[in-house]
Amino acid sequence: MVSGRGSNLQALIDKMPEMPYEISLVISDNTRAFALQRAQAAGIQTRVIEPKGKSKTAFEQELVDCLRTAGVEIVILAGFMRLLGEEFLRQAPGPVINIHPALLPAFPGLHAQAQALNYGVKVAGCTVHFVDAGMDSGPIIAQQAVPVLENDDAESLSARILEQEHQLLPTALRLIAFGRVVLEGKKVRVLKE
Ligand code: GRF
Repeated sequence: MVSGRGSNLQALIDKMPEMPYEISLVISDNTRAFALQRAQAAGIQTRVIEPKGKSKTAFEQELVDCLRTAGVEIVILAGFMRLLGEEFLRQAPGPVINIHPALLPAFPGLHAQAQALNYGVKVAGCTVHFVDAGMDSGPIIAQQAVPVLENDDAESLSARILEQEHQLLPTALRLIAFGRVVLEGKKVRVLKE
């Protein structure tokens, strides 16, 4: 599920031939998301489901129905800019995972890279995690650190983090597909190959 640029989606698409997953459907809550064009160019089915004029419950029910109809087994939030409710998570046809451009639990929410920069951290990074009903608060599956450099601005730091996001998300998905990700309460155990 996407809302915008779709560079993480593109990374998933590009790595698909060598990976144990298939992207069967891309859903956007935003008609103008460039991610939709990326999906179409790759021959992947797309759907736009807009929240406008619907209750949150109705909107999320439509998402669930669409995912179920497509036979989806895992839901990836790749720049999907909405907080999903408990009902969606209960009904989703599999685990829901998200990629966030910070080393959680630090800097959840919007503009995570700028938050990190303004705080003055020396190491930033990205996190792939299971989604729960909180804001970027679900169990952590994988993280990758990147250095914060002296002259960084939000743009340069975001670019450095994004490069790692494009590696981390497909890698995490691969681990999940091979059954190597085990959720134990709030903790995730990654089994050795
Ligand atoms: C990424 O930084 C991701 O971590 C965050 O939203 C951004 C989406 O970028 N959740 P893109 O649409 O994948 O290019």
